[in-house]
Amino acid sequence: MDLTTSYLGLTLKNPLVASASPLTLDLDNIRRIEDAGGAAVVLPSLFEEQIEQETGALEQYTRAGPASFAEAFSYLPSPASYRVGPHEYLEIIRKARAMVAIPVIASLNGVTGAAWTAHARLAQDAGASAIELNVFFIPADPSLNAQEVEQRYVDVLRAVKTAVSIPVSMKLSPYFSALAHMVRVLGMAGADGFVLFNRFYQPDIDLAASRLRLDLRLSTPTEIRLPLLWIGILSGQIAGSLAASTGVESSDEVIKYLLAGADVVMTTSALLRHGPDHMATLLAGLTQWLTAHDSASLAELRGKMSQRMLKDPVVYERANYIKILQTWPVGDYR
Ligand SMILES: Cc1cc2nc3c(=O)[nH]c(=O)nc-3n(C[C@H](O)[C@H](O)[C@H](O)COP(=O)(O)O)c2cc1C
Repeated sequence: MDLTTSYLGLTLKNPLVASASPLTLDLDNIRRIEDAGGAAVVLPSLFEEQIEQETGALEQYTRAGPASFAEAFSYLPSPASYRVGPHEYLEIIRKARAMVAIPVIASLNGVTGAAWTAHARLAQDAGASAIELNVFFIPADPSLNAQEVEQRYVDVLRAVKTAVSIPVSMKLSPYFSALAHMVRVLGMAGADGFVLFNRFYQPDIDLAASRLRLDLRLSTPTEIRLPLLWIGILSGQIAGSLAASTGVESSDEVIKYLLAGADVVMTTSALLRHGPDHMATLLAGLTQWLTAHDSASLAELRGKMSQRMLKDPVVYERANYIKILQTWPVGDYR
């Protein structure tokens, strides 16, 4: 059965990719992911702040600048508290590329187009097959308008594209007022693909301890609906690749994302829950489904239920919501 797919111009043996998390920082896990059938791995993000700390820029700022500047950076973890520094990160790329045949995608996470973006070139030189760019930016300043926020994404992308010749994907959040337009603008600025979606860190309050909780929740399959909506809408409308990220627990979610039009499907939470070998379960489920539906290749399945391919494309939009509400039973809910 032909499960090959093209992602960011790379030919992958199947659409299953391990997304960015500490799991892929470990070479043994990367090997296990490959052995279990995973088609590519994304390394965890290297943060702009880590790179700046290493290059000494931060130190320079905090020494020479006014006291308030030092304060502004006090939220950053100390260099020692990061899992790996920029140099070790490059070493992991090198070792992973030498060890496995599958593509190894480096992830960079930053919010400015400043000097740190040149690090993308070092990742390329170390052997990264592509760069995944995560602009984790929370526009909390009320004086920032949408255009300025969007321009920031374009600036970071352009700076990274200038530094490398390997493909670059943008890992986006769903929080844009015109997401389809944003994707088009980023495509014109050189993005080779889009990962939908990034899960923004969202705090919770620990009532007993009266403080913010510092934790990350693993996802559940109910969370596939938002990325599924946008993959279904964007599939066939844009030139770049589409990666689905969030909520994959079993092959059911993988198949749904592919039907909506994803070129690859990424998973982190399920691998953290069940271990890297879970890739084999996802792959077996996908293969069984294709066999049961008499499909000889992934291409026969991909995008079949995208908005463009459906007879009634409004099912992805407002009209369908109204239809659902009209049939919703009115009753006593107490
Ligand atoms: C513990 C943990 C660490 C993560 N680290 C990163 C990271 O470094 N960079 C990144 O872009 N995404 C990171 N993510 C987000 C995942 O790559 C993924 O997009 C998200 O978890 C949704 O996918 P899932 O539902 O399969 O978990 C992390 C997620 C978890 C749970």
